[in-house]
Amino acid sequence: MGFQINWYTILLIFFVLYSLGESMNTSRSSLDILLKEYAYKSIIQTGILYNATLPSNLSGMEVSVIRLRTRSFWTMGENFSEFHLPQRILPVPFVNRVDIVYQNLGNWSSTYYSVPGYSMVTPVVGFMVYNATDTTSDNISKLNISVMDKPISIQFPQLLLPQGSNLSTVKCVRFVEDGSTELSDMALDSRVCTTHDQGHFSVVVPMPKKAKTKERLWKWLVVGFALGFAGLVLFGLIGFSVFKCVKKKRLAKMEKQADEGVSFENIWIGMSRMPSASVTRTQPVLEHNEVP
Ligand SMILES: *[C@@H]1O[C@H](CO)[C@@H](O)[C@H](O)[C@H]1NC(C)=O
Ligand SMILES: *[C@@H]1O[C@H](CO)[C@@H](O)[C@H](O)[C@H]1NC(C)=O
Ligand SMILES: *[C@@H]1O[C@H](CO)[C@@H](O)[C@H](O)[C@H]1NC(C)=O
Repeated sequence: MGFQINWYTILLIFFVLYSLGESMNTSRSSLDILLKEYAYKSIIQTGILYNATLPSNLSGMEVSVIRLRTRSFWTMGENFSEFHLPQRILPVPFVNRVDIVYQNLGNWSSTYYSVPGYSMVTPVVGFMVYNATDTTSDNISKLNISVMDKPISIQFPQLLLPQGSNLSTVKCVRFVEDGSTELSDMALDSRVCTTHDQGHFSVVVPMPKKAKTKERLWKWLVVGFALGFAGLVLFGLIGFSVFKCVKKKRLAKMEKQADEGVSFENIWIGMSRMPSASVTRTQPVLEHNEVP
């Protein structure tokens, strides 16, 4: 019984660790949903870009939203903040009206996004296209876009490269929804990144080698410590349950012996109780008389 309960505990520990990993995974998309909801509250009319009012626990982020007729989006394109969306972009599946939600994660960028081996030199900015034809529904769906002609361009106005960084190592990064990242070259003269899709974007430079190995060492130390600790806890739990089990069994055995009137000092021989002072003296007797 004691053993069973502890296996549940072990399973519970694994479940908690797994769901921790899972929540890290989904925190980006839940942030997107949250920001979209704040953005929606600020829409009044079509064709105007509105800044969303965010609660104080999200201060430092910037969110805005614009509702567009697909026809004017197709013929005019749209510009907002860093993004220049050219003409000839269509929502997929086709709908008559779309909402474009813009995000600038500011000093929250590295909380939600990072590229291993690189450091971000701009905040993460992004935009997403939603279906605006049925805004009464709670479940406003995200749309794909099809860029038919020129790519979307992203100009990072506050791009400050770290001193001594090699311009040719600067990369544009796109954070794909499935958690992967796409690196591409930046147009160095104009400092513009281009893309054919919606999503989140930033600019990165490679981390210096030294910092990289140092960081790796730290990572391993932390991982090692965490694993060691988890191992200790598991080991302790198993050890404890085994100990409890053995103790229980021994107790049960002793109780049984006490019930039958047998103690460690006395052995029943025939009908009389005789002290078993030494093993050699009692052994021959044992061979001729059956002990219960
Ligand atoms: C995180 O997301 C990726 C891609 O969707 C998936 O392959 C992976 O299993 C997820 N991790 C966890 C802990 O669920
Ligand atoms: C967006 O900016 C470009 C270049 O500055 C301009 O040619 C275009 O007309 C603008 N589009 C809209 C919808 O304002
Ligand atoms: C958008 O594209 C992705 C990948 O091609 C697909 O899985 C998803 O279902 C599409 N979404 C819509 C609304 O069409």
